[in-house]
Amino acid sequence: MELGVLRIANVRNVAAAEIVLCSGVNEFVGPNGAGKTSLLEATYMLSHGRSFRSVKRESLIRLGSGSLDVFTEVRRSGRVRRLGLSRTKSDWAARMDGREVLAIAELLREVAVVCFEPGSHALISGGAEERRHFVDWALFHVEHGYVDVARNYRRALRQRNALLRAGRGDAELDIWDAELVRNAVNLDKWRSNYLDKLSQLVNQLSVNFLPELGASSLSYVRGWGVGLELGEALRERRQRDRERGHTSAGPHRADWRLSFENAPEREHLSRGQEKLSAMICLLAQATLYEQQLGEWPILCLDDLASELDTDHQQRVLQWLEEVDAQVLVTGTSALPKPQLLRRQRAMFHVEQGSVVTLL
Ligand SMILES: Nc1ncnc2c1ncn2[C@@H]1O[C@H](COP(=O)(O)OP(=O)(O)OP(=O)(O)O)[C@@H](O)[C@H]1O
Ligand SMILES: [Mg+2]
Repeated sequence: MELGVLRIANVRNVAAAEIVLCSGVNEFVGPNGAGKTSLLEATYMLSHGRSFRSVKRESLIRLGSGSLDVFTEVRRSGRVRRLGLSRTKSDWAARMDGREVLAIAELLREVAVVCFEPGSHALISGGAEERRHFVDWALFHVEHGYVDVARNYRRALRQRNALLRAGRGDAELDIWDAELVRNAVNLDKWRSNYLDKLSQLVNQLSVNFLPELGASSLSYVRGWGVGLELGEALRERRQRDRERGHTSAGPHRADWRLSFENAPEREHLSRGQEKLSAMICLLAQATLYEQQLGEWPILCLDDLASELDTDHQQRVLQWLEEVDAQVLVTGTSALPKPQLLRRQRAMFHVEQGSVVTLL
């Protein structure tokens, strides 16, 4: 898939920008604080509904402005869709081909953006929520039933937690336990299958990017005791859950971890190796997306040059040379010239929130 025009208004310091992207590698170059990351955040928002950077939504809206707007034309499987997303501090509005979209998921399904940025190491060193989000984002695109199942699961979890806190009886809890289990079975199966497939790609990529660490293995932690059915686990923990007022087992506690032959624990990784591990997972995710859906997601690489040493940058560029993904990459200086000869290239200069097309 690829984005054609990208129109952004009131995203951080970018008051208004219109960019016509090429289908290959689009480079955004400019000094610190120019607005480069902001452009990627706007792009990412079309796929994830939020920024990769801030939890606080309003910080993305330009100071003094009430709302932000992002508009794009996305081309995939031979058709073009016009997508617009607006956000105020408390609400959002989306349009697709001029029509108002009522569920944001409908818009987010149209664009897939995978982004490697300075905060990506959190995928390895951060909390489990980040890693669940990573897997679930892919399931959202691949599994048709995902949205309903995830919603039903969250609802059952909320209900069960409310009953636990209210000290309600076993009969009521049994009903929500059954609902949790029914949805958990699918979530668990999807996540486990996805990570199985991803694991093979991560292995191949780590031979290229982290050969010194030896073979990699990606293990899935499903969120309740090994060898137990979730129903049993919930029954076993019911008393404890009552005391704590929340459900302590289930897919909402799932996680996964990547380890290497020569770095079995994540504490064995250097900061740079953490970043590379996260990048490998993201590139594997993009590759698997292509294998499952027949087209590449858009790849955003924020500040590539300051994140990786020259040798690893070269390896990434070599990798990008061989895939057909549309790429948006930022940096304070241009990528080395002799690289990416096969790919179409476009370059933009960013300064004080303005974007100028250079070539
Ligand atoms: N809500 C906001 N309203 C206005 N300006 C903002 C807002 N949030 C951040 N900024 C400013 O927007 C500018 C752009 O930030 P951005 O992170 O996009 O820069 P960058 O080009 O990626 O810089 P760097 O090379 O340092 O990563 C910064 O000067 C920042 O202070
Ligand atoms: Mg930046």
